[in-house]
Amino acid sequence: MIVTTKQLFEVAYGKFAVGAYNINNMEQTLGLFRGNLDSQAPFIIQISKGARSYADKRMLEAMIKAADQIFPEAIFAVHLDHGDLDAALDCVESGFYSSVMIDASHEPLEENIRITRQVVEAAHARGISVEAELGQLGGVEEHVQVDEKNAHLTDPAEAEVFVRESGCDSLAVAIGTSHGAYKFSGHQGLHLDVAAEIQKRLPGFPLVMHGSSSVPQEEVARINAAGGGLKGAKGVDEDEFVKAVPLGVTKVNIDTDGRLVWTRVHREFFRDNPEKFDLRDPGKIFIAEYAKFIAHKNEKLQSAGSLELVRKAVAG
Ligand code: G3H
Ligand code: 13P
Ligand code: ZN
Repeated sequence: MIVTTKQLFEVAYGKFAVGAYNINNMEQTLGLFRGNLDSQAPFIIQISKGARSYADKRMLEAMIKAADQIFPEAIFAVHLDHGDLDAALDCVESGFYSSVMIDASHEPLEENIRITRQVVEAAHARGISVEAELGQLGGVEEHVQVDEKNAHLTDPAEAEVFVRESGCDSLAVAIGTSHGAYKFSGHQGLHLDVAAEIQKRLPGFPLVMHGSSSVPQEEVARINAAGGGLKGAKGVDEDEFVKAVPLGVTKVNIDTDGRLVWTRVHREFFRDNPEKFDLRDPGKIFIAEYAKFIAHKNEKLQSAGSLELVRKAVAG
């Protein structure tokens, strides 16, 4: 059942974080639904601009509608990840999305507020909520590359002004994470003090943590042992999620770790079965491994086991 992102946040705030997982194809979609049902968790399906052009936005919508029928017990929201103005307005008009992200975080504050406000007005008129971003994460997003020296943490005082003036419903904050597989070069970690300060100024307001893959070292080692070349990849300690939840972090975005599962499964499969060529053979393994990965993340996010609570809440 597709619900609004707002409904999920109302149940989750302060108790658990909702996992927001990107999809690009059918195997990921099947694994995602299975993993969330196995762990009895609500979830958010994220679609990036890159995914919308890779798979065609109509294909992604059709897959989600089909998965909703195949897995009638699932409770989830559909979200545009890192939208620009055009993509955000297109998704609002489509009526299919529960929420959209407008990412104008690379713009100066006033311009970020102006663009976000424009999306908020269109979205709220249709009952769709809006995630905005303030501060800059390092790493690579599809339309912006930010190197470490240009990344900067969200200023809590600015966050208060930004939320008030833009009217957004949730805020992606830069608290030390970055996108992709190479997040930390040394001993850096999450700046939970910054999240705490933002929460003081915006009590009850849902915060979103992007760039939250943990880049498991065991996964990287298996990929490299099967011919990969990922050097020095490092991510967020997933045991930190439990500390972020009471500080208002209500949505946690994870994409890279799922890509690592895909890469490990396919590299190992073709290394170990050089004579095979039926795409369904590694596909089946991937779906099962992806489901396991999702269930594991949901345990760390504490969303596992909350499906009934959410079902009751959305039933009113
Ligand atoms: O933050 C970006 C997400 O990982 C989506 O990645 O833009 O390559 O689809 P993508
Ligand atoms: P990762 O690259 O850490 O998985 O972050 C994904 C993300 O933030 C999607 O918006
Ligand atoms: Zn992101």
